[in-house]
Amino acid sequence: MKALALFISGTGGNAVNLVQACRDGRVPARPTLAVASTPKAGGIARLEALGIPVVVIVRSRFESDEAFSTACYDACEQAGVEVICLAGWLKKLVVPRKWEGRILNIHPGLLPRFGGAGMYGMNVHRAVIEAGVAESGCTIHLVDNDYDHGTTLAVGKVPVRPGDLPEDIQKRVYSEEMRLYPEALATYLTSGAPNADPPT
Ligand code: GRF
Repeated sequence: MKALALFISGTGGNAVNLVQACRDGRVPARPTLAVASTPKAGGIARLEALGIPVVVIVRSRFESDEAFSTACYDACEQAGVEVICLAGWLKKLVVPRKWEGRILNIHPGLLPRFGGAGMYGMNVHRAVIEAGVAESGCTIHLVDNDYDHGTTLAVGKVPVRPGDLPEDIQKRVYSEEMRLYPEALATYLTSGAPNADPPT
């Protein structure tokens, strides 16, 4: 079973959900390490309570995105991690060749339209309302060197209802995230990405 790392910047809700899905056998992976981009991330205590070691790696202590990313990968490699799930991770990661195809992200909107720099958290849900679209959702994708750009692994859709506030859409999308991320990770680990081999 592959060793998994969870990367968090916030509450860790998705990360905790993935750990539970691994532990109850829905996802064939071994949660091995968490990396937090800030000591203020609420998810740190939640993951530690589940027995997951957490390392905090702060971007401002490094002079470039590359150096910061290398420190994150070094921590993963020391722990034997083979696959990384970004779960509410807010920092730029530079993806070197050896990690291509092995980093997944969840985005709280339907890509490509509601993605890119600045499109995170409530900004996405506000943009969805402004656009007047009838549905939103979440996207699980592989991470490459452009924001919200890599191969899509799974999409979950939710309705946008008349009179919805950004908070209403956030709640609906978040419940869909809880369902979709474990399912997409399990499929990725057993079948690989579309048009690619399973991770080795
Ligand atoms: C989620 O909405 C996820 O899609 C986005 O950041 C949020 C993280 O929430 N990338 P949590 O920290 O997992 O609660």
